[in-house]
Amino acid sequence: MLIAQLADTHLSDPLMDDPISHSRMECLRTAVNAINKLDPSPSIIIHTGDMVQNRTHSEYKLAQILLSDLQAPLYVVPGNRDSRRMLRETFDLPGNRNEPVLYSIDTHELRLIALDTQSRDTRKGDLDEFRLRWLENTLNTNKSKPTAIFMHHPPVPITTSTFPWQFIREETREEVSAIISRHPQVIRIFCGHSHRLFRSSIATAEVSTVTSLAADLRMDDKNPLQDRDAVYHTHTLKGGSFITKTHFVPMLINHKPMHKDPPIG
Ligand SMILES: [Fe+2]
Repeated sequence: MLIAQLADTHLSDPLMDDPISHSRMECLRTAVNAINKLDPSPSIIIHTGDMVQNRTHSEYKLAQILLSDLQAPLYVVPGNRDSRRMLRETFDLPGNRNEPVLYSIDTHELRLIALDTQSRDTRKGDLDEFRLRWLENTLNTNKSKPTAIFMHHPPVPITTSTFPWQFIREETREEVSAIISRHPQVIRIFCGHSHRLFRSSIATAEVSTVTSLAADLRMDDKNPLQDRDAVYHTHTLKGGSFITKTHFVPMLINHKPMHKDPPIG
């Protein structure tokens, strides 16, 4: 089973004559084109949040148009930049309006769980009692199937970042770790948000983050090729764990991105 992962596209209003808007759009178009050519084809594509920059209808319309070209089913989870309501409307997600986006995909050899980490008032993440209870209950309904969770904020410190911990409560790490310890069927947690490539673990599960698809917002140590490439991950399930590959694809049209001050995360 192959999963492709995109994150942090930060699409901005296409009506603005802004090279960054066009660069982000072309990065996504390039990644979609490359994912459609993968052999074998992915069973599932996940977007781990921060789909748009400013929560406008036109940004979500653009996302819908670009992502509708994907040939495999797409599943999304909100990042701190997203509107739950607009994400729901655009991608027909379960639940009501502004409630946390929580669902599982149970139709494959691997179970996938979408876990919304958006907080009410900050760009940091939150997993309140309701969501932690939902996660535990959902994991309890199938303890034998290999499972992966996809979420925006990583539940581990990103040690290569100046701001490594990105949840509003320190306790979240221990709370997630305790749940994973009780559910060793969770083999991987796929995240975004850090705008970096990073690997770690929590309890028995590996944690991976993919860098931002928006080239101008990447915080990885600078690789001269990265600024001109679309970047996405593939995760191949093999022998009970995932083999992750980072794909760099030259942009179809190159709008030179302009680096700004620290990214918004
Ligand atoms: Fe982001």
